[in-house]
Amino acid sequence: MVLEQTQKPEVLQNYLEESAFNKVKRMITESAGLNTSGYRDEYLKRRFEIRLRATGTNTYARYIIYLKKHPEEFTNLLNDLTINYTTFFRDGDVYQYIEKKLLPKFLFSKNPVKIWSAGCASGEEPYSLSILVHKVFGPSLSRNPVTIFASDIDKDALTKAQNGVYTARQLSTMDQRTIEKYFTKEGESYQVKDFLKSIIKFEQFDLMKTPMHVNLDLILCRNVMIYFSKEGQQHIHMNFYRALRDGGYFITGKSEILSGEPAQVFTALDYITRVYQKPAKPLF
Ligand SMILES: C[S@@+](CC[C@H](N)C(=O)[O-])C[C@H]1O[C@@H](n2cnc3c(N)ncnc32)[C@H](O)[C@@H]1O
Repeated sequence: MVLEQTQKPEVLQNYLEESAFNKVKRMITESAGLNTSGYRDEYLKRRFEIRLRATGTNTYARYIIYLKKHPEEFTNLLNDLTINYTTFFRDGDVYQYIEKKLLPKFLFSKNPVKIWSAGCASGEEPYSLSILVHKVFGPSLSRNPVTIFASDIDKDALTKAQNGVYTARQLSTMDQRTIEKYFTKEGESYQVKDFLKSIIKFEQFDLMKTPMHVNLDLILCRNVMIYFSKEGQQHIHMNFYRALRDGGYFITGKSEILSGEPAQVFTALDYITRVYQKPAKPLF
């Protein structure tokens, strides 16, 4: 590349910063185990810049030196990358669909039922599912076991999920009867009851990796894809397709759409709640 004398400093500066940005991406993969290749660059830059400001480094080149001197900074970086906003029964119509249309079908399943809450953040999603499973299955749960796998990349969020302790404000999307039935008040906070927890298996998992479970009946991966590039999304959605049993269901976030191969292989059942199905007799 031959540069005009006047262009040199700025173009060179941008080039070096871009290389340093790519180096930070590689360092996260190597040191923190998070595969950043699926995330959108604009998203990563927005999140990284929060840490550049917080550490006072302000350039990627200086931030790399900082990361090498302070490896504990990787934890802060990871926490900033993974935004954990969630609520119990987020988007009521989606949970109505699950309660009225999907779970009753699973009651007749010959095999143990397997559900995956992928990107479960602090646990509100898998506990909402567990409440519905207990409501629909009732005593038949002992004959007809259900497991909810709940995973997230973020260790802190997962610890909160495993603890299952929430404030009154976090429970505000549920009525009083539901709260009393499924939570125990302890001082100012509310603890999820053990029977609700007992059907959930929490695990740390990066969605860019190959899923650990197969023959799943239902996968929820909601409000997670917004951070991933198109290619990253398609890679993850095809992994879900393969992890589902034939005829299994998949639900995305309400503002998320399938593209590429996943859009062709999944059948859309409901455009509002974003429920999809793997065909009962898939072509492959
Ligand atoms: C906005 S929360 C969504 C929580 C819940 N699914 C909901 O809809 O309310 C997004 C979650 O995705 C998780 N996440 C982001 N990147 C991930 C990855 N590569 N693998 C697994 N989880 C990831 C974040 O840690 C965060 O907890």
